[in-house]
Amino acid sequence: MPLIRAASIADVQAIARVDIETWRTTYAGILPDSVLVEMSTRQRSAFWSRFVAKHPGDLIVAVDVRNQVLGFGSCGIQRGSCLPNAGEIFSIYVAPDQQGQGIGRQLLLSLFFRLVQSGHTACVLWVLERNPSRFFYQRLGGRVVARQTLTYAGRDVGASAYAWADLPETLNSRGRTKSPTG
Ligand SMILES: CC(C)(COP(=O)(O)OP(=O)(O)OC[C@H]1O[C@@H](n2cnc3c(N)ncnc32)[C@H](O)[C@@H]1OP(=O)(O)O)[C@@H](O)C(=O)NCCC(=O)NCCS
Repeated sequence: MPLIRAASIADVQAIARVDIETWRTTYAGILPDSVLVEMSTRQRSAFWSRFVAKHPGDLIVAVDVRNQVLGFGSCGIQRGSCLPNAGEIFSIYVAPDQQGQGIGRQLLLSLFFRLVQSGHTACVLWVLERNPSRFFYQRLGGRVVARQTLTYAGRDVGASAYAWADLPETLNSRGRTKSPTG
């Protein structure tokens, strides 16, 4: 069973690698090729270094016994306003060869826990409508509350906001009552 813990600066390169690998496998044919081709480990590592420095605790990783990063997720203050008292999950990515083993569920519940710790009672998460991972969010109780069109390198893509309106209840009913590191 992987360990879920807060990420540190030492993890950002491994996070960047999982980030790029999952974007390329998930969004091929959905986002323009140029967006996927131009992603670089250096640029994504710099992004995650800034994030972890500014928001320690809001970036978490799932690691194996050798401390290899299998997946990661991030959360924080909601960028829009589709749900009152909500925080937002910005990203949740599990390495392609590690998907389907329960790591995504553990990460999602740990991010919910983190949002509750930070004073939020609800959560929103934006997902591209053509991304099959939307079924994962439905499976874990998310409901669509808003839609918008995003533009990537000149291509319009639809996105849906999934919401969990009562995080303490969700955590209770899904058995995650300990901290992410617990
Ligand atoms: C989406 C993602 C985070 C899910 O993580 P995961 O570790 O593969 O999922 P889990 O094994 O924890 O699955 C939890 C449950 O959701 C279901 N599920 C997961 N992905 C699913 C999918 N694409 N379609 C239908 N059900 C799915 C599982 O069957 C499981 O159901 P169960 O309750 O019967 O056990 C992961 O597959 C991933 O990183 N995908 C690519 C990147 C991505 O799209 N990220 C989200 C961006 S918004």
